Amino acid sequence: MADNAHPKPRIYILDDEIVTVRRLVQALSKDGYEVEGFISAGEALARITGQPPEVLLSDVRLADADGMEILQRVTMLAPQTKVIMMTGYAAVDHAVQAMKAGAFHYLAKPFRLEELRNTISDALHHSGKSGQPLADTGLVDRFAGIIGRASAMQEIFKTIRQIAPLNCNVLIQGESGTGKELVARALHSTSGRGQHLFISFNCGAFSEELVANELFGHEKGAFTGAGSTKPGLLEAANGGTVFLDEVGEMPIPMQVKLLRVIQERTLLRVGGVAPVSINVRLIAATNRDIEKMIAAGEFRQDLFYRLKVVMINIPPLRKRQEDIPLLVEHFVTLIATQFGKPVPKIGADFLGVLSTYTFPGNVRELQNIVERAVALSREPVLTARDLPPDIFFAENQPAIPEKNAQHLKALEQEHITEVYRRTGFNQTETAHLLGISRTTLWRRLKELNLFSER
Ligand SMILES: Nc1ncnc2c1ncn2[C@@H]1O[C@H](COP(=O)(O)OP(=O)(O)OP(=O)(O)O)[C@@H](O)[C@H]1O
Ligand SMILES: [Mg+2]
Repeated sequence: MADNAHPKPRIYILDDEIVTVRRLVQALSKDGYEVEGFISAGEALARITGQPPEVLLSDVRLADADGMEILQRVTMLAPQTKVIMMTGYAAVDHAVQAMKAGAFHYLAKPFRLEELRNTISDALHHSGKSGQPLADTGLVDRFAGIIGRASAMQEIFKTIRQIAPLNCNVLIQGESGTGKELVARALHSTSGRGQHLFISFNCGAFSEELVANELFGHEKGAFTGAGSTKPGLLEAANGGTVFLDEVGEMPIPMQVKLLRVIQERTLLRVGGVAPVSINVRLIAATNRDIEKMIAAGEFRQDLFYRLKVVMINIPPLRKRQEDIPLLVEHFVTLIATQFGKPVPKIGADFLGVLSTYTFPGNVRELQNIVERAVALSREPVLTARDLPPDIFFAENQPAIPEKNAQHLKALEQEHITEVYRRTGFNQTETAHLLGISRTTLWRRLKELNLFSER
């Protein structure tokens, strides 16, 4: 506790070869890290739970556990910990699997100490907290591919971590484009079911017969055209997760059948008589108010209770505006990389406009706006001009109440101020957008005492 003011980054090393552990502990301690070595996974996990390190260096093959399992456990127990996996055999599929499951990096043994040092410093740098233990900050702004700093998102991360390993059904509620499927996938990938299938099924896209056929499959000869027995999605996803998207759209007779499947953990294929047992986790999503639907007799209450053992509510983007800059940055990098273009910088005015927009289409709409901007822009910096005009001029402010009705001049001033602010106080840009000369703008800004802002 003596050097609490400047705590050293903490690194744990887990390998069942005691010689390797000793060598690495020695080398990294000399580099000024707080290093602890473990030769058993159980011991390491207990220690990680109590005091998560910044970096865990773990072998993929251990005497008492599989490194991938460790990786999954650590992702849940200590999501801030960066995991670097080591392996004796350079198996690419292992590496890919580990990276997919959230490992920070992968080192093939034998590796040079220099390589390890660089990787560790990258990991510490990546967390943005080099030299400072992350464990103390408690804040992660992304989890399993979901970006979010808002407290509602932090709560969602916590819930996912808590319930991912359990087998309970989950109901995700949120407006269109808020990331329901992303959350469902995160639940799947951080559960023990990650190696099995995640199957997404849109309950509203099919007629009742087709829904039954898709979900339950059919026996040979169940109907004309059923030439052979076909297992349904619930069977095909065995061991994995089935995502029932838009569950509110599911026809009532189907709801009854689904309820029975949940209760009995078995199903009957269409035309079948022998129950088939299934092992899937169900995650349902809806953008409708199911409670209202129940009141209207459009959704079965008993099914609702079975589905919402845990309920996750994703708030609309307009209620977590602090996440907008993070998301913009994320999508700009992602999309530019996908397009094979250099990653542009994000202009203050670009972000300014987006920060006040209300995003009726939520994160999906933000993603589309960024995609369009990145696709069309030929400049190294994205500016407000790369945004569609309807967004630039979107009316985000609440309507002016009658009794406060202002006269024209005041409205004009308000509009000018708003555009000026949104362009990041760029006079040329503001004049251009308002269709007035710079001189006229300058005069107006002077009246408003704004011209000196930049
Ligand atoms: N918090 C987030 N961080 C990063 N990407 C996100 C986030 N939320 C949503 N996205 C992205 O936005 C898009 C829409 O998300 P998703 O499909 O999960 O939404 P949804 O709620 O299922 O929407 P819909 O109701 O329209 O089906 C996806 O490309 C997803 O990756
Ligand atoms: Mg969806």
